[in-house]
Amino acid sequence: MINTSIFGASGYAGGELLRILTGHPKVKIQQVTSRQFAGLPVSLVNPNLRKKTDLVFSHPDQLKKCDLLFIALPNGESMKYMNKLKTLAKKVIDLGADYRLREQVTFENWYKQKHLNPEMLKKFVYGVVELHRDEIKKSSYVAGPGCEATVSILSLYPLVKHNLIEGKIIIDAKMSSSQAGLKPSLSSHHPERSGVVRSYMPSGHRHTAEIIQELSPFSDKLDVAISATAIDMVRGLLVTIHTIPKNGVTEKEVWKAYRAEYGNEPFIRIVKERQGLYRFPEPKILQGTNFCDIGFEMDTVSKRLVIIGAIDNLVKGTAGQAVQAMNLMYGYPEETGLEFPGLHPI
Ligand SMILES: NC(=O)c1ccc[n+]([C@@H]2O[C@H](COP(=O)([O-])OP(=O)(O)OC[C@H]3O[C@@H](n4cnc5c(N)ncnc54)[C@H](OP(=O)(O)O)[C@@H]3O)[C@@H](O)[C@H]2O)c1
Repeated sequence: MINTSIFGASGYAGGELLRILTGHPKVKIQQVTSRQFAGLPVSLVNPNLRKKTDLVFSHPDQLKKCDLLFIALPNGESMKYMNKLKTLAKKVIDLGADYRLREQVTFENWYKQKHLNPEMLKKFVYGVVELHRDEIKKSSYVAGPGCEATVSILSLYPLVKHNLIEGKIIIDAKMSSSQAGLKPSLSSHHPERSGVVRSYMPSGHRHTAEIIQELSPFSDKLDVAISATAIDMVRGLLVTIHTIPKNGVTEKEVWKAYRAEYGNEPFIRIVKERQGLYRFPEPKILQGTNFCDIGFEMDTVSKRLVIIGAIDNLVKGTAGQAVQAMNLMYGYPEETGLEFPGLHPI
C-alpha cells in the first residue's frame, strides 16, 4: 500500500486525483489539504465522493510524513514550499508548472517570474509516461505536464521522431472551463463564459515551451506554435494540428509511425474510422478516462497532414497521467485505478 497525501485537494486537479485514488486498490489516502475548507469533509467540495470517503480536509500546515505527496497547487506555488515538502515524502508528483521545464532560464522567460528553487529542476522527470517510462520508474520526483502540452506532444511525437513532417506546426487548441481551475474570475462568470468561442491565447501559450523541450531532441528544426480558444465545455481538450508532410509521405507511413510508437500503449488509441459518428477523436466520450485519442487526415489538395488529438484535461491531462506515473514508480501495472472506459451516451 502507498500512503499518499494531496497538497491542494480542493481544486479541480486535486479533486480528480481524490476520485481516482479513492478507487485505487494500492493506495491509502492519508491527508488532503485545503486552507479554505480545513476541518470540513471532502464530500462538501466533491459531492461525487459521498459515501466513497469520510476524509476531512487538513490545513497545509498539518501535513505529516507520507510515502508519496501529490501537489496540485496553482502554478508558481510549489517551488515556495518544495524544500520543506521533500522532507515529508520520499516521492513527489507535482501537477503544476514549476518543475516541468528543465532550464531555469526557459521557465523564467515563459512564466515571467524568478524560479525560487532552481536546484531541484533537474531532479524532476517530465511526466509524459509514453516518452519517459524508464526514467519515471527510477525517479523520486515527477513533474505533471500541462494538458495542452500532453495532448500535443503525444499527437506529434511519432511524426517528429519518424521524420515525416517539416516546417511550421500550428496547434489549434479548444479549451474547457475546468482548465482555469476552481477560483472564479470575471471571465469565468456564467454570463461571460456561457456559450463562448473566445480566442483566449492566439499566440504565446506557455505550454509551447514544454512541447519544444520534449520534441526538439527528435528534430533540429522544430517550429511550433499554439493558438488556444476557450469554448463552452466543462471538461475536455481538443487539438487540431496543422502540419506539412515531407514530400512523398503517405498515409500508410503515418499509420506505421503511430503503430510503431503506440501499438502497445494502454492509454493511446488511434481513431480514424471510415464510418460512424465518432470518426475522429472527440473529448466528449473521454470524460473521466485516461485515454488520449489521436486521429489524422492527409489533405492532398492543400498538402497538409492534419492531426486531431483529444483528452480529458483533468485525467490524461493531469490527475490520471500522474496516477499512471505513480503506478510505474511503485511497480504496479500502469493501468491500475485507471480502467474506467468512459460513458456513452453522455
Ligand atoms: N485544471 C486543469 O485542467 C489542469 C490541467 C493540467 C495541470 N493542471 C495543474 O494542476 C495544478 C492545480 O490546478 P487546478 O486547476 O486544480 O487549480 P485550482 O482548482 O485553483 O486548485 C488549487 C488548489 O491549491 C490550493 N491552494 C491555492 N493556493 C494555495 C497556496 N498558496 N498554498 C496552499 N494551497 C493553495 C487550493 O485550496 P485552498 O485555496 O483552499 O488552500 C486548491 O486546493 C496547477 O498547477 C495546474 O497547472 C491543471
